[in-house]
Amino acid sequence: MLTIRRHLFRGKLKSVLPPPPKKTHYEYSISPNTYSFKVPSYKRPLNPIQLIYQQAVNFPFEKSVNDVYRSYPTITSAQQRNRKTRPKGVLMSSADFIEDSLYNKHYGYFSKEVEIFQPDKPFKYSDVADVDDFVENWRQSYPKADPKSKSLQLWHTPTELFNPHYGESLARYILLNYKLNGSYPYEDLVIYEMGGGNGTLMCNILNYIKQQEPEIYDRTQYKIIEISNQLAEKQAKSYQKRLQSEGLSADKLEIFNKSIFDWDKVVDEPCFFIALEVFDNFAHDVIKYDMHSGEPLEGKVLIDKQGDFYQFFTPELSEYSKAYLQLRESGKLSILQSSSFNAKVENLKSLFKQVHPLFESPTMVKLKNSVLPFNDDLTTAEYIPTRLVKFFNILKHRFPNHSLISSDFHYLPNTIAGYNGPVVQTILNGDTIDVRTYMVQQGYFDIMFATDFEMAEELYKQITGKIPKISTHREFLEKWADVNATSTKSGENPMLDFYRNASFLTS
Ligand SMILES: C[S@@+](CC[C@H](N)C(=O)[O-])C[C@H]1O[C@@H](n2cnc3c(N)ncnc32)[C@H](O)[C@@H]1O
Repeated sequence: MLTIRRHLFRGKLKSVLPPPPKKTHYEYSISPNTYSFKVPSYKRPLNPIQLIYQQAVNFPFEKSVNDVYRSYPTITSAQQRNRKTRPKGVLMSSADFIEDSLYNKHYGYFSKEVEIFQPDKPFKYSDVADVDDFVENWRQSYPKADPKSKSLQLWHTPTELFNPHYGESLARYILLNYKLNGSYPYEDLVIYEMGGGNGTLMCNILNYIKQQEPEIYDRTQYKIIEISNQLAEKQAKSYQKRLQSEGLSADKLEIFNKSIFDWDKVVDEPCFFIALEVFDNFAHDVIKYDMHSGEPLEGKVLIDKQGDFYQFFTPELSEYSKAYLQLRESGKLSILQSSSFNAKVENLKSLFKQVHPLFESPTMVKLKNSVLPFNDDLTTAEYIPTRLVKFFNILKHRFPNHSLISSDFHYLPNTIAGYNGPVVQTILNGDTIDVRTYMVQQGYFDIMFATDFEMAEELYKQITGKIPKISTHREFLEKWADVNATSTKSGENPMLDFYRNASFLTS
């Protein structure tokens, strides 16, 4: 009896065993860029070449494109900001996806340990033979280039490289404009710096003002707005020490550990607003245009339950994408108002270089779409600076009496495909690795955009009503820096010659 029972029991147990886990099938022929899914989508006949392609690369979903898109909820980078795990099973706008990858408090690129290169002591240019010698000196004071260095990210900025001369040039600019713009002597000199780095710029500026204009120095306030917790913490400790060691008063400084995009206080007093090398990490949205109608569609990243990425395009534009397209079209850089002669020239250029997607040769776009079935009759992607539009709006409404001093890259090499596409890179064993899409594991990659300064000038003018000025890095420094102090023995000047891909926008 007992044996029979045991036998029955054994049999029963077997039948209740769970089925073996279903293995996730990853389709490695599909990169996040393989398909651009248009929603709503319509079934259309495929030509033989497209049919062959479709067989070769599996369609990744079980449901229709429309159903898949509708079954995922949308989240923003702000909602995701404090969450510890990367989002799954959701849709995000491209700008939110990029912002989350860079700025999430736990896994974002800026939450990691960051070091900004700082030479032990300023270079003595009169002892440096020429530009090659300068680079050699720089390399020697650059121990962190060691691949085993604990820090994954090391930034080197003109502020640090040309310390104190670069900072002093900004101080000269500020002092002169403070005296000319009517604030002096009625208002204090108030300086805001977004992204204060090691505090070198702050010390250079305050030191210069103290030496040249002690009375103005007594009435100077310096405020730093810093998004990175890690940097803000480091700054809070080290800035006080640094200010004291340089004989500067620590009570001049106030640090706000927040993103400029969360700034809600209105600063009515006149102030200078410094933004150096910050625009490059401002997230962008992605637009593709319908190849037949020219209608703009906005990119959304679909992150499936396994954390894989797909790109969908919808005619529902975000508030800032709409604003950007309207501002572009109502200014001198309008694409749609472009003369037919200019459009023809751009069409021709598109055969050998990247032009705006609406200027791409229609024959080439049709040909590309007839061979590749994954583009849903959409043009090449355009990356649009929606966060820059938001930033200029913050300047207008929260800092109505500001003067802007900003500098950033107007060109970056090795960008991903698309108009105004970013550089997406990481450091692996000391080597810089560039990849071909921004849809990569969040937090491991820097995503940097070059700034189109002509467009930035146009946006700034229309949004704030102020007239800004563009100068190249060299033009600005030739005017405001002590050029003799940074000349090498051979007469070469690394401060003017380096950063040829950077420009200033000032107002
Ligand atoms: C490349 S570093 C430049 C540092 C410094 N301005 C310099 O030139 O040496 C960029 C800095 O901007 C900060 N940052 C980036 N986005 C920001 C935002 N939305 N609000 C405030 N700070 C931001 C970063 O944390 C970082 O400190």
